[in-house]
Amino acid sequence: VAIDYFDERIAASYDASVAEEFTPETIQATARFLAARAGGGRALELGIGTGRIALPLRALGVEVHGIDLSEAMVARLHAKDGGADVPVAIGDFSATRVEGAFSLVYLVFNTIMNLTTQDLQVACFANAARHLEPGGCFVVEVMVPALQRLHPGETLVSYGIGPDHVDLDEYDVVGQGLVSHHYRVVDGQLLRNSVPFRYAWPAELDLMARLAGLELRERLGGWSGEPFDAASEGHVSVWARPRG
Ligand SMILES: C[S@@+](CC[C@H](N)C(=O)[O-])C[C@H]1O[C@@H](n2cnc3c(N)ncnc32)[C@H](O)[C@@H]1O
Repeated sequence: VAIDYFDERIAASYDASVAEEFTPETIQATARFLAARAGGGRALELGIGTGRIALPLRALGVEVHGIDLSEAMVARLHAKDGGADVPVAIGDFSATRVEGAFSLVYLVFNTIMNLTTQDLQVACFANAARHLEPGGCFVVEVMVPALQRLHPGETLVSYGIGPDHVDLDEYDVVGQGLVSHHYRVVDGQLLRNSVPFRYAWPAELDLMARLAGLELRERLGGWSGEPFDAASEGHVSVWARPRG
């Protein structure tokens, strides 16, 4: 059974904490990219959360549906303008089915990594493919594992340090695991949150896509079409279901 790491406490501060990370321009670029891949059809977001991307995508005229484990996150989406019109199935996106076929299924912001075993990630690709109509796309945005920043034997990579926050990724290079530790000082109190992930190279994701009957169509370094290259810290990948 998947663990819900996005409980009421995390959901309450989620929008404010991600607003520090994502500019409105990035969100708009993301929505435009996804709208173009939806091509006028319906979209399904795996791990839709509070609708950070789903609502801007809907504002571009795309019918968006979602799957998410966290009732607390989805309650925030449904409380927003237009949010009540976004149907969401509560469940694990590696297994949960929703009605109908979609021209776009998407999974952003490293959320594929919330599935902490290879089997679950493989199942997620299969579930995404199951929801796609022929010619439809599965789009994933995920980090490139930062192993180039680790000396042999080291485990910690910091990616955000300030007077009132520290963010560290703790790598397990044998088990392909990663725990993200977040420390925040709020009202003089130290809040700690640690979430386990599984990292995967782009090539491993390509293999999962092939197992699900999908073909790689695009790999970019970002939502504005940046090239994917040796310096890319993440990628946006698009796999398509053949037209048959
Ligand atoms: C980092 S948030 C991203 C939310 C939204 N996609 C965004 O970009 O702001 C991850 C979301 O995925 C959901 N989630 C994580 N693992 C899940 C799983 N196995 N099945 C369904 N939802 C999951 C969490 O509840 C949370 O809402």
